[in-house]
Amino acid sequence: MKIGIDKLGFYVPHLYVDMNKLAVARNIEPAKFTIGIGQEKMALAPITQDPVTLAANAALGILDETDKEKIDFVIFATETGIDHSKSAAVYVHHLVGLNPHARCIEVKHACYGATAAIQMAKGHVALNPESKVLVLGSDIARYGLNTSGEATQGAGAVAMVISADPKVIALEAQSTYLTDDIMDFWRPNYSDKAFVDGKFSNEQYILFFSKMWEQYKEKTGLDLNDFEALCFHLPYTKMGMKALKTVLDEGTEATQQRLAANYKISAEYNKNVGNIYTGSLYLSLLSLLEQKEDLQAGSRIGLFSYGSGAVGEFFTGILQAGFQDHLYVEEHKGLFTSRTEVSVPEYEEIFQETLPTDGSNIEFNIDKDPAAICLVGMTDNMRNYVNKLR
Ligand code: HMG
Repeated sequence: MKIGIDKLGFYVPHLYVDMNKLAVARNIEPAKFTIGIGQEKMALAPITQDPVTLAANAALGILDETDKEKIDFVIFATETGIDHSKSAAVYVHHLVGLNPHARCIEVKHACYGATAAIQMAKGHVALNPESKVLVLGSDIARYGLNTSGEATQGAGAVAMVISADPKVIALEAQSTYLTDDIMDFWRPNYSDKAFVDGKFSNEQYILFFSKMWEQYKEKTGLDLNDFEALCFHLPYTKMGMKALKTVLDEGTEATQQRLAANYKISAEYNKNVGNIYTGSLYLSLLSLLEQKEDLQAGSRIGLFSYGSGAVGEFFTGILQAGFQDHLYVEEHKGLFTSRTEVSVPEYEEIFQETLPTDGSNIEFNIDKDPAAICLVGMTDNMRNYVNKLR
């Protein structure tokens, strides 16, 4: 039985910062951000969007009534969750109106969480072929104003339906994975901003990729020429390119050209969003699928997932016949073209807006937020959400 991604959607908040302008404001040569880091625009979440609403908006864009009935498992991957106890999946389950007879959980391991969720979903579908699983990867990446990580922030979510006989990509059985207890990036419970050893994190990302790639080749007998494209977890778009370059010369001339060209396409959405942690790899896959017009069914795509701390996995999928008919190209294009740029001072003000932590109540004006699902405020330490379409 084939199991894989049946539907793939995403949501990005409606505000962004131009990286050239951020560089100027920080007295940095703009080329460092746009070429050295490889980012053009950084998505910014207003106070009326949090990881729950971002994920719910991503899910709302792809689910039809059959999905809502058949989804019996919701796995919400995040490293910027809103509650230590209640899972973010339960809020999304309610906000998009899923069948009550569903399991809802949250999973975590840095940016690797959504990959773990997909593997769990595969197991669930293998045991229950009629079921569908909703996998969400949603985060707001924050390092802080004027930090070296600032240029690699971002916000957004992906939503994926995992099912048997998937319409987009069937995931192959063999994958390689690795864990090592390292401190390259972490966020203690008391901090809303991540701590990072930037250079070390870059080295570990590459090391994990090379270890898993070598193991994958040994395990499967496949090589670089068997791939149409490799997609990477993209904390910033130069990072994946650095990893790809370490293996490119293993391929024929044609393979090298194909993988380099496809990498560029797979980084396009991420370049305009920034790091969305759990969703980043899947945003890159989406960028490739939605923007490369001549991708053929039957092509093999490699996927490298990396979560600091660290857990990584290399796995693969085969594009399914007619997959193009099951993408949301126009809707996603609309999300990008309808965004509003904010100035650096406006970004700094929005970045510093926080929810009350002393139990006081607050209500937001959601008229300026075009999202269907918004955070409207807090009452008695509880977040209040609204789905404007109801
Ligand atoms: P930095 O140290 O300020 O930057 O921050 P740099 O000095 O290393 O420069 C970056 C690049 O720009 C360099 O290129 C420079 O040469 C180039 P490279 O040597 O890397 O190829 N450069 C220029 N290029 C053109 N024109 C110029 C110019 N000036 C310089 N004028 C760093 C960079 C990524 C370290 C920082 O932003 C950071 O710490 N970010 C957060 C950590 C991160 O993203 N790590 C990636 C791997 S870990 C990961 O992916 C997991 C993660 O997603 C978390 C999770 O799993 O949950 C982060």
